[in-house]
Amino acid sequence: MNYLEQKILQECEVRPGNILKIDSFLNHQIQMDVMRFITLEFKRRFADTKITKILTIEASGIAIATMLGNSLDVPVVFAKKSQTLNSSDDKYMSHAYSFTHKKQNMVFVSAPYLSASDHLLIVDDFLAEGEAVHALIDIARQAGATITGIGIAVEKGNQNGGRILREEGYHLESLAIIEEMNYETQTIKFRE
Ligand code: G4P
Ligand code: NA
Ligand code: NA
Repeated sequence: MNYLEQKILQECEVRPGNILKIDSFLNHQIQMDVMRFITLEFKRRFADTKITKILTIEASGIAIATMLGNSLDVPVVFAKKSQTLNSSDDKYMSHAYSFTHKKQNMVFVSAPYLSASDHLLIVDDFLAEGEAVHALIDIARQAGATITGIGIAVEKGNQNGGRILREEGYHLESLAIIEEMNYETQTIKFRE
């Protein structure tokens, strides 16, 4: 069991509806020991990968992306969410339906911050159905950028995002993959 998995077992609570509450070190308070582990592990797993920029989505992805960007000394771009958006030439736009929050978000990055010469590592805190990551992939494609990898802190392995992205051929690395979590018993099982 790795450091992130241990922290999840020690500090996280299972909420109804297949939700893991991870506020004590990632989604509300941010703990540097966990951030250092995540950064080092992504650096190790993507050591042979060309990365010119990191792409994430607000809000919780930004902390992870920034720590890694500092360590790799590359810029970090975070896609912004908006309820409405008119199409325009100066933005790359996509959309992501949040199953957790039951709402559709428009997601955008302003054109100057992504280009065809970029080799992008996409990172995020959670992967559930993969809606957010697919919006980022869509935006990267519009910019003509190359996606060289996807790094996720916590994958909910009982939802579809991870399976779909692996089938699509992406180099996806998830540092903790939850196979099962149970609200009644407060138990969490990780994929080996
Ligand atoms: P998907 O993109 O993979 O399809 O997932 P989904 O829409 O269901 O996730 C929506 C939001 O909820 C994301 O954050 C995601 O990080 C978060 N999320 C999903 N499952 C869990 C969970 O079990 N526990 C926690 N703590 N978060 C979860 P977001 O709404 O985009 O916003 P932000 O929190 O990054 O600002
Ligand atoms: Na997120
Ligand atoms: Na979140």
